[in-house]
Amino acid sequence: MSNKMWGGRFGEGPDAIMEEINVSIDVDRHLYAQDIAASKAHAAMLSAQGIITASDAKNIARGLDTILSEIDKGSFDFKRALEDIHMNVESRLGELIGPASGRLHTARSRNDQVATDFRLYVRDTIDEIDASLAAFQHALVTRALEHAGTVMPGFTHLQTAQPVTFGHHLLAYVEMAARDRGRFADARKRLNESPLGAAALAGTSFPIDRNATAKALGFIRPMANSLDAVSDRDFVLETLAAATIASVHLSRFAEEIVIWTSPLVGLVRLSDKFTSGSSIMPQKRNPDAAELVRAKTGRVIGALTGLLIVMKGLPLAYQKDMQEDKQGAMEAFGALSLAVRAMTGMVLDIVPDEAKMKAAAGEGYATATDLADWLVRTLKMPFRDAHHVTGRIVGAASGQGVPLHELPLKDMQAIEPKITREALSVLSVEASVKSRVSYGGTAPKNVAAQAKAWLKRLEKQRKLG
Ligand code: ARG
Repeated sequence: MSNKMWGGRFGEGPDAIMEEINVSIDVDRHLYAQDIAASKAHAAMLSAQGIITASDAKNIARGLDTILSEIDKGSFDFKRALEDIHMNVESRLGELIGPASGRLHTARSRNDQVATDFRLYVRDTIDEIDASLAAFQHALVTRALEHAGTVMPGFTHLQTAQPVTFGHHLLAYVEMAARDRGRFADARKRLNESPLGAAALAGTSFPIDRNATAKALGFIRPMANSLDAVSDRDFVLETLAAATIASVHLSRFAEEIVIWTSPLVGLVRLSDKFTSGSSIMPQKRNPDAAELVRAKTGRVIGALTGLLIVMKGLPLAYQKDMQEDKQGAMEAFGALSLAVRAMTGMVLDIVPDEAKMKAAAGEGYATATDLADWLVRTLKMPFRDAHHVTGRIVGAASGQGVPLHELPLKDMQAIEPKITREALSVLSVEASVKSRVSYGGTAPKNVAAQAKAWLKRLEKQRKLG
């Protein structure tokens, strides 16, 4: 049978291979709620403008509601021969209400339809991801407050650098997640314009009201250029870019969890809830969830790269290539959302080994900077000289195989005679973190204040949202 939608021109049906490459219903069926909402807004507008009768509009709306509940219930029969969600819905509408269904497609095209549906879908997705990122932040902040004073080694080059607090480390990810949420919010702002009514590419000769459909669908305004409206997918790219950066943040954190839980390091422990065993090695406790968060980042980056490549050679306006915009994006958003939830679970589950963290924080002469700072502050030494003197003291301590605070004072004085016993007091890891009171620094009282401010901010957002 030739196609119902364009059978006027076509005598024969498609080849089986044509149908297979052309079909998109397996993917765009996920747009059903948005597709139906957009069709309802369109039908109501057509009737308000006198383009279709009020009674046809009423029947169309009723039919669309029935279809929505059929799909929600799982009783809708999606047909591959009908290619995509738009034609599946329209065809079923015909079965339900008869010829009036044919009036719904007046003054629109699948090109503006799919652009509208996908914008609505991405907008909903952004809202869901934002809520899960907020929950992630909340978990981090709660643990940060609990561990505002828990000392751990801070690293650069993965070498012990200076002591920090575990709470401070967790709050770093709260800041990253805040910027991630900002990027999603920015993308949402820009995508929130309506393509509906751009029709195939050139607009329409019918007296439609694009402001009305835009408003009904929660868009700020109609998109100003019909060619742009049907042919750009920058809103998907931008959201995927935000998703990619968020995934990279999560991946770095996941990598830290993998490192910290290794028996070689052993700074934290995850419970049975977020680890798995080995089928052959009974002693193993593997951080699979963290490893998979790290790995899912590949999918998200891949989706962004894939769509950039699809789009880069396309002339205006709609090209069928764009049908490939959805699958990767949907998978990527799903992967990110799962990764955020898994990380939230791990943040709540993780138990730091405080004694080990503290011991590790002092290893590798991590308080050497504190001694240099003492020389600057107390002896008014230029920092470069203090660095040099401290370097020699570290050399002496390491020669004797002792930590800095166990090097006899007289050995320090042999290097710098003006050093007093007071200098020793800055060499503990607690004293070190306590002294880092500069704005944004790791001092426990800073960390506690930041965590409390975040809790307040998140609570306020929750109330507003
Ligand atoms: N399934 C198509 C897509 O996702 C809908 C638009 C089809 N438009 C067209 N002119 N064939 O892109």
